[in-house]
Amino acid sequence: MKAIVCNEYGAVENLGIEEMPDPVAAENELGLKILAAGVNFPDGLLVQGLYQSRPDTPFIPGMEFCGEVESLGAAVSGFDIGDRVICSSHKQSAFAEKITMGSNQVIKIPNTIAPESACNLLVAHGTAHHALKQRGQLQPGESLVVTGAAGGTGLAAVQIGKAMGAKVIAAASTAEKLALAVENGADETINYSEENIKDAIRDRTDGKGADVIYDPVGGDIFEPAIRSMARNGRFLVIGFAGGSIPKLPINLALVKEFSLVGVFWGSFVRNEPAEFAKNMQELMQMYEQGKVSVVVEKTFPLAQTKDAIMHVMDRKVKGKVAVII
Ligand SMILES: NC(=O)c1ccc[n+]([C@@H]2O[C@H](COP(=O)([O-])OP(=O)(O)OC[C@H]3O[C@@H](n4cnc5c(N)ncnc54)[C@H](OP(=O)(O)O)[C@@H]3O)[C@@H](O)[C@H]2O)c1
Repeated sequence: MKAIVCNEYGAVENLGIEEMPDPVAAENELGLKILAAGVNFPDGLLVQGLYQSRPDTPFIPGMEFCGEVESLGAAVSGFDIGDRVICSSHKQSAFAEKITMGSNQVIKIPNTIAPESACNLLVAHGTAHHALKQRGQLQPGESLVVTGAAGGTGLAAVQIGKAMGAKVIAAASTAEKLALAVENGADETINYSEENIKDAIRDRTDGKGADVIYDPVGGDIFEPAIRSMARNGRFLVIGFAGGSIPKLPINLALVKEFSLVGVFWGSFVRNEPAEFAKNMQELMQMYEQGKVSVVVEKTFPLAQTKDAIMHVMDRKVKGKVAVII
């Protein structure tokens, strides 16, 4: 099979396509043909050695995919050849033509969902859903500020926050990105290239401040944003796409009585499989009801996976991109 291989940690540009042996399904595994793989900001961090986990090299990157069952291990039940599944892979390896997975690690989906959408349903929407539901305890009528609101996890948070009944305030760096957030349900917008985000949040919340802030960006907007928290608010730490990991003057949490809440979706999936399964059922229901969708801005062939990753890392992506295999 063909696969994208990271032979040593370094620039995304170094990723090349190589011929690799086809994986063979073990007793309790499914042999899967990958139809499309989702592209996430952490893919770029991982191959540079900048992510929280560092697999041994060489490895095939790619953390989520949509695939079709090609073969069944002897002990597998409940699946047929041709079934379509999605999976967030604990062993990476999604930027490849084939993969094997434990039958309990995949989620069966209807064949009607296009692979380029399906492959992007888990990481971004899964993170946003877990963040707003379990970690943020978002309530109907509360104000929710989403930074990086046109990015992968940001746009998912806009959609899911709206579906949960919040007043969604999208914050992003360009008018074009904010227009996409509005198309996806945002009630108000803040262009943080032009406005001070602290003053803007105060303005959009009638002086109260934000009940919940969902922040995948960090960097320079973190501190002004956190200074606009409402009393009893929850600031959700999602990621640091802005580059730097900010520091917090901790007295702010005391003075303003807000909570700083960490979110790590991968840890949730590993440690709370039953809750994760319930979340996925709820998410699929929201998808079927049209309350959430995957906005796929662009697709790339497998050989151009590095361009797909760079499109995300270069701050260009609006919604998601997918690698079609
Ligand atoms: N905690 C978790 O479980 C979890 C799960 C998935 C992802 N993450 C993390 O969340 C972060 C965002 O992931 P994502 O998939 O939403 O990424 P994404 O699609 O690239 O979106 C990130 C957004 O960050 C903003 N940004 C600001 N400065 C940037 C820069 N220098 N380079 C790139 N983007 C910049 C951009 O919006 P503007 O241009 O509008 O500012 C961009 O749309 C990453 O750090 C990722 O590792 C965390």
